[in-house]
Amino acid sequence: MLLLSRPFVPVLTLLLLLVAPVRAFYLPGVAPTDYEENDPVPLLVNSLTPTIDSESPQLQSVLSYDYYHPAFHFCRPHGGPKKQAESLGAILFGDRIFNSPFDLRMLKNDTCKTLCTQNFEPRAAKFVNRRIRQDYQLNWLIDGLPAARVKYDEGTHSKFYSVGFELGTIDDSEDKNPYLSNHYDIFVEYHETRAGKFRVVGVVVQPSSRRTTIDDAGVVQNCNVGDKLMLNRDIDTKVTFTYSVFWTPSATPWATRWDKYLHVYDPRIHWFSLINSSIVVIFLTGMVGMILLRTLHKDIARYNQLDLDEDVQEDSGWKLVHGDVFRTPEYPLALSVLIGSGAQLFVMTGTTIVFALLGFLSPSSRGALATVVIVLYTLFGFFGGYVSSRAYKTFGGEAWKLNVIATPLVVPGIVFTIFIFLNFFLIGVQSSGAVPVGTMIALVVIWFVISVPLSAAGSYFGFKAPALDPPVRTNQIPRQIPDQPVYLRWVPSMLLAGILPFGAIFVELYFIMNSIWFHKVYYMFGFLFVCYVVMILTCSTVTILITYFLLCSENYHWQWRSFFTAGASAIFVLLHAVMYWISKLSLGGVVSNVLYLGYSLLLSFLVFVLMGTIGFVSSYFFVRQIYQSIKID
Ligand SMILES: *[C@@H]1O[C@H](CO)[C@@H](O)[C@H](O)[C@H]1NC(C)=O
Repeated sequence: MLLLSRPFVPVLTLLLLLVAPVRAFYLPGVAPTDYEENDPVPLLVNSLTPTIDSESPQLQSVLSYDYYHPAFHFCRPHGGPKKQAESLGAILFGDRIFNSPFDLRMLKNDTCKTLCTQNFEPRAAKFVNRRIRQDYQLNWLIDGLPAARVKYDEGTHSKFYSVGFELGTIDDSEDKNPYLSNHYDIFVEYHETRAGKFRVVGVVVQPSSRRTTIDDAGVVQNCNVGDKLMLNRDIDTKVTFTYSVFWTPSATPWATRWDKYLHVYDPRIHWFSLINSSIVVIFLTGMVGMILLRTLHKDIARYNQLDLDEDVQEDSGWKLVHGDVFRTPEYPLALSVLIGSGAQLFVMTGTTIVFALLGFLSPSSRGALATVVIVLYTLFGFFGGYVSSRAYKTFGGEAWKLNVIATPLVVPGIVFTIFIFLNFFLIGVQSSGAVPVGTMIALVVIWFVISVPLSAAGSYFGFKAPALDPPVRTNQIPRQIPDQPVYLRWVPSMLLAGILPFGAIFVELYFIMNSIWFHKVYYMFGFLFVCYVVMILTCSTVTILITYFLLCSENYHWQWRSFFTAGASAIFVLLHAVMYWISKLSLGGVVSNVLYLGYSLLLSFLVFVLMGTIGFVSSYFFVRQIYQSIKID
């Protein structure tokens, strides 16, 4: 087998060993912290993110902003805000965590503490009012737990914690007057583990808008006045930020403190759709497989029979093209590079999902998923190089240097270029989502110092390994290809075949998109795993079927076709993203739209490479298998 040939097995073991410390790397964030009474409990602040509320169920922006963006005028800690250390994945996914001036002490209730008074000039007022209207929310962290709002799910009649709380509220009037929340009631739930040792097990914040004033001595006069505060767009507005802290005992132990946050809105949707799609898919796959096997058996028996009888009867069907079926495809270099990158993506996604399934990527370690994705993709560069060079050698390619260079550069290069392009937009609007230069450089260093050499090493082993010999000889002169039926033309066959694997993933895809764009925690890796397996099965069966029909109609250009047929799922992923754009988002501003479409395009491209590779590899082994089983004189 291509994937499991000998040099690869020890290498895989080695890679897994290398990857193992990734988990250890995360353990510190996962260990509980014990506080004693009056110990300071730091409150950290993350970027402001757009979200939706029940009144306007459409997302209006995809940009996030630094908590200390000057226009927000949030109070700064002494000596200026300090950036907290974060993992690469967390930075890429937009976490920008800073310290804050809030002074929280374990078990010490406080009411109406003043943070600072700020002056909102008209420009800042307009900016903040716009963000309030777009449902921006604040994201705080206390002891690693996100500050949440308590919400009630009508469907399951249960309370749950929804991460983040709103920057402000708008009223029902026609003008949609925005009120900035300048007072925070912070409720911290604690759990006593041993006598005198406490742990934080829940954080709820109720923000409110108050027209607070302070006297000359800086003492808050009327913290609890009910009047709401609106930022004036024409003159400066003075705003005093205040907060109260309430420590409440809780029976929730530390180990299960995340449960309240991981609320499934309607678990039945997942089960229902999963079972639904699985049944359809398994049924289809089984049917296709059975038909194929039976027909093939008959074909093979007939072909071999003809041979024995020395019958003069003409050959028909796929046997006819035996002299062409292993002919080198057009652009073998491009195909092998795509297959190498696809194989790399395939093992990376598979391993990541298994890691997640085993619980290594708990939501409490921020950015763990993205970090693991990057680390695994980098390390599996070896595998990508190996598959690419082996495929290239099998195609009879000769420009091996080009193959070694192109494999680690082309697909990551495309991704990186789109990424940099989108990043310029983020920088342009001063969004905190813009990846800092340092992180960009780190990525490039990881790419060129680790991934490229690993890929080159993989290519070395791939070229050293023998090419996969075709089971039948290729004729000198290519056969004429007869006219093809309509359903086997490029576009119809792609559309027909692409929809099935997409059907397997689209429900999970919807939830993944929700979690990405609405900043929700995604953790349903069990569902994801099943979907992934179902997707692979569907993708390979359908592609094999199309390849079979293609060969039966004497078309031996199956290599690129199988890649594109399977890759066609990406078209549906893109269409799905567009539908989502239309139904769930009403993004204001060019930048949000460009970003959304850009990232969707990026995702579709990766899906294309991944699925295409699955399709090609399964077709390859299928074609090998069937031509191996017939006798050819
Ligand atoms: C702090 O406030 C909470 C909520 O009002 C209350 O349940 C708790 O007993 C208070 N703790 C102390 C030490 O006063």
